[in-house]
Amino acid sequence: MASLDNEWPNFDGVPEEDALISARPRGQKLARYVWWDGEVREADSLNVHYYANALHYGTAVFEGIRCYPTERGAALVRVQDHVERLISSARLYGMKLPFSADELARGALEVTRRNGMENGYLRPLAYFGSGPIDLRPKKECPVRVFIAVRELGTFLGEDALRNGIRVTISSWRKFHHTMLPTMAKASGHYANSVLAAHEAMDRGYDDAILLNQDGTVASATGQNVFFVKGGVLYTNDVGSSIVPGITRDCILNIAREQQVPIEIRPFTREDLLRADEIFMTGTAAEVTPVRELDGAEFVTGKSTLGAAFQRAYLRAVTGKDEKRLGWLTFVR
Ligand SMILES: Cc1ncc(COP(=O)(O)O)c(C=O)c1O
Repeated sequence: MASLDNEWPNFDGVPEEDALISARPRGQKLARYVWWDGEVREADSLNVHYYANALHYGTAVFEGIRCYPTERGAALVRVQDHVERLISSARLYGMKLPFSADELARGALEVTRRNGMENGYLRPLAYFGSGPIDLRPKKECPVRVFIAVRELGTFLGEDALRNGIRVTISSWRKFHHTMLPTMAKASGHYANSVLAAHEAMDRGYDDAILLNQDGTVASATGQNVFFVKGGVLYTNDVGSSIVPGITRDCILNIAREQQVPIEIRPFTREDLLRADEIFMTGTAAEVTPVRELDGAEFVTGKSTLGAAFQRAYLRAVTGKDEKRLGWLTFVR
């Protein structure tokens, strides 16, 4: 196995390391403009009908896209992959989007530019609007699409990225892909995540991992789960009812390049408890180490493989990795 330490020096003595995490906005301020049905509009002028089908039945699909500052100005991360996943989520719900992937990607760039956003999070969302009380929204409800923007620094806080989070196994199980199309990022699916996240909070944890009905691990409330054991990187796939994350794909790409052995297979709570390291990936959470799982402690910090992946990922998304500039679309 290649030594990641040789490729990316430790956190110690790497000046840009601090900049990768610390120089971030603290809040989540909403931006002034929203891209709404094809035009950039003032956010304050927009509203959603109280009888929107999506509000009643969770019939919306959405994405989360990061925008980072780079030496060449702000850049969106893997925007094409995100808009394509939005279209595929919509399709799984019988929702025909009136915009192509290219139009949505252009809209995302335009609204980021108009807002002058650097450390941002874009929320493209497509929903079934107001129609009759009916569980067949594709028949009559209009489809509305917007891309909202807000500031976002570290999602779970700076300490979470550096030192890791405390996680519990939820008593709520993840719904199976035969119950709902788990590959879709659909609003209604997140009721499951909300229950698990509330439970974690009430128990004093930062987040929860949901198990499938068969006891294998699905994912965290909004992140994919990885673990390291004996220098091998493990994660599951769509057979475990996960959303196949774009960040997950970035980590697997980095692992392949670094010749870190990878095993993609279903895994259990027991596998996690026996792991050397655990970390989670997601657009918002980036690469977040886990320092505790229900009382069991795990190593985090500069010596870990997780930290090397985090550093490699943050370097790539901030334009510091020449080989991965293809992940970025520059706003200007
Ligand atoms: C349930 C769930 N799993 C995984 C992910 C990670 O996906 P991505 O890396 O594409 O943000 C997310 C976030 O979008 C999610 O909500």
